[in-house]
Amino acid sequence: MVMKLKAVVVAGGAALLSLCVLLAVHPAAADAGGYGYGKKSIEDTVRKEVEKAIKRNPGVGPALVRLVFHDCWVNGCDGSVLLDKTPDSSSTEKAAVNNIGLDGFDVIDTIKSKLGAAVSCADIVVLAGRDASAILSGGRITYNVDTGRKDGVVSSAAAADAVLPESTFEFQQLKDNFARKGLTQEELVILSGAHSIGVAHFSSFHDRLNATTATPIDDRYAAALDADVKLQKTRQNTDDPVEKNNIRDMGAQFQRDAGYDATGVDTAAAGALDNSYYHNTLQNRVLFKSDWVLRTDGDAASDLVEYRENATKWDMDFSAAMAKLSKLPAEGTRFEIRKSCRFTNQNYY
Ligand code: HEM
Repeated sequence: MVMKLKAVVVAGGAALLSLCVLLAVHPAAADAGGYGYGKKSIEDTVRKEVEKAIKRNPGVGPALVRLVFHDCWVNGCDGSVLLDKTPDSSSTEKAAVNNIGLDGFDVIDTIKSKLGAAVSCADIVVLAGRDASAILSGGRITYNVDTGRKDGVVSSAAAADAVLPESTFEFQQLKDNFARKGLTQEELVILSGAHSIGVAHFSSFHDRLNATTATPIDDRYAAALDADVKLQKTRQNTDDPVEKNNIRDMGAQFQRDAGYDATGVDTAAAGALDNSYYHNTLQNRVLFKSDWVLRTDGDAASDLVEYRENATKWDMDFSAAMAKLSKLPAEGTRFEIRKSCRFTNQNYY
């Protein structure tokens, strides 16, 4: 009898061991078997990988936040921005002019390799962007996102350029662009606050430094920027160097040259996703025309002042607007859960 029981225990142990091996090797198998590879554990994996990636390279945090916007704006949140090619096109969204500087793809790949078929690439984009926002804001920006998105199989550079807003847009163009996606003028002002982080290529703001095309920009800021672009062309060895979006994150000498007034800005929080963007915009010390034009509308200008004065309100409203952005429904007709985020399953095999 004792012998029999022992045999059962040993057999049971072996079964448990093989289950553990199965779960470790193939997370999707765990999901299919219902062994707790649920939302919580998916979220934990994404969070851990995003934390690691930002620690290794802080520049990837802003890239992940931007990726949510650029994925969800084009065909809805369907992971289409991640594709290197599709059966129909090798000129995918990544090749769009408006997607200049887009990054973070390696982090998405790493997360996908941990989660396997249990999670779509589209879900990973919104989860990673949510976590990057939380990390870069010191935990002040938090929101829930549902999972269950599917991956699209269509991705076109021309479609992305037709849909994404441009940094040279007028206020009405930006407002119309957001309205087409069901987002309000106020949400335009709120989400533009994401330009408190990250970098931009010279080609995205060169119009602001050219006397014939310049929209109002602080003279001292423009001069300091012009000088720094010249320096960065040499340092970065390119005609199209990047500059930091936020004057808060520039060096002390630059800030002095640019006459930056940091009153009310947490200058210790370099790289933070916060309301400093509104201080900069109202000082005419922002890179893009699309940032400056928010001042040209009465209501939008009042919102800029409100968010400059109330950091907590911006944290809350930005969280809500990102949650809404992350819910933009996929617009295609054919979906799958990709095996690799860079290729449709048809290309993958
Ligand atoms: C309102 C219309 C918008 C326009 C015209 C616009 C335009 C741009 C441009 C031109 C760049 C620089 C790209 C480069 O030269 O490398 C940029 C960067 C960035 N944008 Fe926007 N953007 C808009 C809205 C948004 C929204 C809604 C978000 C996020 C929710 C966002 C997040 C970012 C971030 C985080 C960066 C820095 C990325 C990095 O450092 O990798 N933008 N944007």
